[in-house]
Amino acid sequence: SKKELQVAIDGPASAGKSTVAKKIAHRFKYVYCDTGAMYRTVTLKAMRENVALDDPEALAKMLTKTEITFKPGNPEQLVFLDGQEVTMAIRQPDVTNNVSTVAAQGTVRADLTNRQRQIAEAGGIVMDGRDIGTSVLPDAEVKIFLVASVEERAQRRFKDNAEKGIHTPIETLKKEIETRDHKDSTRAISPLTQAKDAIRLDTTALSIDEVVAKISDIIVQKRKEIE
Ligand code: CDP
Ligand code: CDP
Repeated sequence: SKKELQVAIDGPASAGKSTVAKKIAHRFKYVYCDTGAMYRTVTLKAMRENVALDDPEALAKMLTKTEITFKPGNPEQLVFLDGQEVTMAIRQPDVTNNVSTVAAQGTVRADLTNRQRQIAEAGGIVMDGRDIGTSVLPDAEVKIFLVASVEERAQRRFKDNAEKGIHTPIETLKKEIETRDHKDSTRAISPLTQAKDAIRLDTTALSIDEVVAKISDIIVQKRKEIE
């Protein structure tokens, strides 16, 4: 019988993780889990409730009464906070610019890591984030580390924004991406870093379909090996 795998996709901001992870999940009929959306949801709630974003105890207390759920949607997966839909709200620039501070708090990481492991327990999962291969799912059968140049990632975000009618200059986007990557890579607890057994894929010059094809080949190969 075929074992259903755990697929971990990590990398810096706007490397294409969620776009590719969703397509991989669809192709293999796996569940997709966007761990960045979970950190964003916690950040949104803390901002709404005026909980200090750098107070680990206050955030831990808030989390004991916080429910985060995903529901399938078309085309986007929907995100719910305490039963209320927040899919769009968690993508607002103020959440984006505060999320790394919240994500650096050990209490928040411990809580969300537990939730993520429960979601992934049965396998058949594609999970994307920053610390999936290194910390959340250290035994994942497939680990991918997606990278792209900061210029290319700023261009991609610029295009995404333009489609939504947002016109932040490329230089500003570049700075925001660099700031967030720096915070994520230098925090004390499970920083963004490539797992020793992860496969590094530079997507700067690759299309989405090319990236999906490469990762699909790796998954098919892995399934054969452990069949
Ligand atoms: O904007 P982008 O889609 O690249 O980011 P995201 O995946 O939505 O993640 C937002 C933020 O959450 C990151 O910048 C990290 O600070 C944090 N995060 C994390 O610390 N660990 C994860 N596994 C996922 C996200
Ligand atoms: O999840 P993460 O922040 O890593 O990136 P994303 O939101 O999935 O991707 C950012 C943008 O890059 C999306 O508009 C993708 O369509 C685009 N893109 C990509 O993901 N991969 C490529 N090889 C080329 C473009």
